[in-house]
Amino acid sequence: MAREGTIRAPSSTRRNQLLAKGEAMPASVIVGLQWGDEGKGKTTDFLAEQVAAVVRYQGGDNAGHTIVIGEDTFKLHLVPSGVLYGHITPIIGPGVVVNPETLLREFDGLVARGIDISRVRVSHAASLILPYHIALDKARETALGGAKVGTTGRGIGPAYEDRAARTGLRVEDLLDAASAASRLSRALPEKRALLHALGVDDPAATDERAILAQIAAWGERLRPHIADTNELVQRALGAGEHLLFEGAQGTLLDLSHGSYPYVTSSHPIAGGATTGGGIAPLQIDEVMGVMKAYATRVGSGPFVTELTDAIGERIATTGHEVGTTTGRRRRVGWNDALPLRYAVQLNGVSSIMLNKLDVLSGIPEILLCVAYEIDGKRVERWPSSTAELSRATPIYERFPGWSEPIHNVRALADLPENARRYVTALEELAGAPIVLLSVGPERTQTIERAWRPMRRSVNRP
Ligand code: GDP
Ligand code: IMO
Ligand code: MG
Repeated sequence: MAREGTIRAPSSTRRNQLLAKGEAMPASVIVGLQWGDEGKGKTTDFLAEQVAAVVRYQGGDNAGHTIVIGEDTFKLHLVPSGVLYGHITPIIGPGVVVNPETLLREFDGLVARGIDISRVRVSHAASLILPYHIALDKARETALGGAKVGTTGRGIGPAYEDRAARTGLRVEDLLDAASAASRLSRALPEKRALLHALGVDDPAATDERAILAQIAAWGERLRPHIADTNELVQRALGAGEHLLFEGAQGTLLDLSHGSYPYVTSSHPIAGGATTGGGIAPLQIDEVMGVMKAYATRVGSGPFVTELTDAIGERIATTGHEVGTTTGRRRRVGWNDALPLRYAVQLNGVSSIMLNKLDVLSGIPEILLCVAYEIDGKRVERWPSSTAELSRATPIYERFPGWSEPIHNVRALADLPENARRYVTALEELAGAPIVLLSVGPERTQTIERAWRPMRRSVNRP
């Protein structure tokens, strides 16, 4: 069992090496280490106070990021989590798929609550989600029946397909009626044929005139927000500003590295920040991985440590494990060191924020998966193959729980010893330092553990 007191201080992280040398620290990436919903919204919001811009680099309105400030709860889907701070430029990068309809609805919701959205910038190169993408997403899921991915039904996969096929429309087309009309008229016959083949009769999803009218209206409203965000990012970096890149979904939902086909259609991993955010690999100096004290998954796919008993029910209820975007009940399980270590390596994680530790209070014994048994063999490396994962059974280490509530704890020393032991074990198995602990949804319900705050930007007005 892991011992308390063997914390690797984050002075070993690249950020702190640079800090010590007095060098610039341009950019941090915040990445989910599990299947999404790790609390990236809270983490981004917690760290954003110190940065000039927050950039979303992939995904679309399949994401649901929750931020709680006092009595106020904000659920963000496309707008980056930095929007709640007046000094931050929230940027939707070229790697994102944008449904203008939902983006504008989100704008309206924020404005109605007094949030200034005038600073939000959307990349001209981001791809559009149009009504036929949503119809196709739903039709494909229906056709898959019991083998469905369990998508959010937001058209994410079909929009990314069109980007790769070079048949999609981009945000820039919202401002160019001629380009939008010619791209749409080329795309529509194929979409109609596809929907017909899938047995869907939804003329509105491919109504050329209606879609062009929508595009014109969206363009009018979004015009002030559309920009070359790569230039904004590089200009800010050049001026010595600090930027935060906010991942959506999580490493295990990555199109290439997750349990395919039960994944999303983009690259949530830290590397996705380069292809989708407009930053170069060597401009990133910190990768903060976000995880919860247990595991959850929405949608289909293998989940080796899934709990279908009363403990799982209890965690789901206490942790309010209901999807932010779809309202679906999240599947719940014990933490699993195999995909965790895989995610830490794949993302080059330099520090971890562990969320929802409070949810485990009162559970007599906490289990942590340290290996799988697959076909009679002990396996310690996560096999991303769905076939292998479906044959895996978990091998657990057991930790005594703690009975007291911890949501009011603000100092590491005040945490129950068993909670500290569990955190240390997780950290040792993960292979990266856990520098922040969260014990509640609010900004302030955060414990700093061997943490040095990021430098404040010198150039911020
Ligand atoms: P994201 O998609 O990664 O941003 O995560 P979600 O917002 O979808 O889900 C995380 C949920 O947990 C949200 O409702 C948060 O308000 C909540 N949350 C975040 N951190 C904590 C925590 O430490 N304790 C508790 N109880 N809730 C938390
Ligand atoms: P955040 O950013 C959890 C899941 C879906 C489905 C799979 C593919 O809030 O962590 P998609 O609609 O993307 O084609 O669905 O991915 N999924 C998420 N699960 N959190 C998310 O986002 C998710 N976004 C997509 O449930 O299993
Ligand atoms: Mg979420």
